Amino acid sequence: MPDPIVVMDDGAVRIIRINRPEKKNALTLAMYVEMTRALREAEASDAIRYVIFAGAPGSFCAGNDIADFLKAADSGLDPRALQFLNALARSQKPLVAAVGGVAVGIGTTMLFHFDHVVAGAGAVFSTPFLKLVLIPEAASSLLAPTRMGYARAFSMLVMGRPLSAEEARDAGIVNAVVDSAKVDDVALKAALEIAALPAGVVALARQLMRGHLNDVVERINTEAMHFKELLKSDEARAAFEAFLSRRK
Ligand code: COA
Repeated sequence: MPDPIVVMDDGAVRIIRINRPEKKNALTLAMYVEMTRALREAEASDAIRYVIFAGAPGSFCAGNDIADFLKAADSGLDPRALQFLNALARSQKPLVAAVGGVAVGIGTTMLFHFDHVVAGAGAVFSTPFLKLVLIPEAASSLLAPTRMGYARAFSMLVMGRPLSAEEARDAGIVNAVVDSAKVDDVALKAALEIAALPAGVVALARQLMRGHLNDVVERINTEAMHFKELLKSDEARAAFEAFLSRRK
């Protein structure tokens, strides 16, 4: 079985590829742990200047593994998914995403922490948290209204209405929409463009533009506190079971 997270360094770039296509790149606990490790290592490295997150053809990430949500309903939310979100929010290195296909749940909300997002023409962004009787996470309750405006954020985060790649671009989540087969190349080109700039001023501009990190981290933790309780509800459990036992 190939590794579900593949980390590759090429000069100044670290590529973290989500690689579990048989499950549409849904994230398990082990995958969060590996992504956190790869991010922290990049953070500590002088050689790595930026990080690209990429997925598999047709699927960037289908969100948290719903079977893991069901386990967490019994055993409690494991803090390691939260550690990934913290590592993402605290990243000092520019983050670029290559979204070649579906981006669901955390597959979309993680993008609010990225500096540049390239989407394939067929990509779809959706956050069906409330249909699973959960709430939005990854500080998206703070970052989405700021980025997209309250009306669009409510429609996506609360009503669960998906956005096409073009709609996500118009809403300010995505920088460029390209042919799906070219997503990785275009993302790499953007990352090289950032890397060609003086690193010190990129870091400073980025820090100023991203606002107060403490507010973001605090929001991640507040959302997680509610999320943890909601996961245990009978309604949420029934929604997870319905997905896992659905007939296709
Ligand atoms: N957790 C666990 N398994 C998942 C998953 C998830 N989040 N997303 C997809 N899968 C699995 C499916 O169960 C299926 O497994 P199987 O082949 O063993 O039955 C496989 O991935 C392929 O998914 P499928 O639904 O057949 O693909 P699709 O192209 O028709 O639809 C999605 C893709 C992503 C739109 C759809 O799978 C989906 O809605 N997934 C759930 C997303 C979600 O709600 N995530 C949590 C958000 S908080």
